[in-house]
Amino acid sequence: MGRYRKFVFVCTGSDCKKSGCKQLTREVKSVLKLDPHKGRFKLIKTKCMDFCKSGPIMVFENEVFKNGDVEKFKGKIQ
Ligand code: FES
Repeated sequence: MGRYRKFVFVCTGSDCKKSGCKQLTREVKSVLKLDPHKGRFKLIKTKCMDFCKSGPIMVFENEVFKNGDVEKFKGKIQ
């Protein structure tokens, strides 16, 4: 599994592109930079995850974060 312990999936499908997955990706990266244990997380860009109407979408530990909810994600990585 390599050195990463946790994976963060960000959808880059066409609907999430329209709803702002690039911005979401930037925000997730800046949240991960705050992690004191560098290299614990890896961001993975995915294709459509079938939640298109609620994009941009990310998934972390089997939980779906809709509408680019980075604040909720932030609370999960502490
Ligand atoms: S394009 Fe992102 S969930 Fe479908």
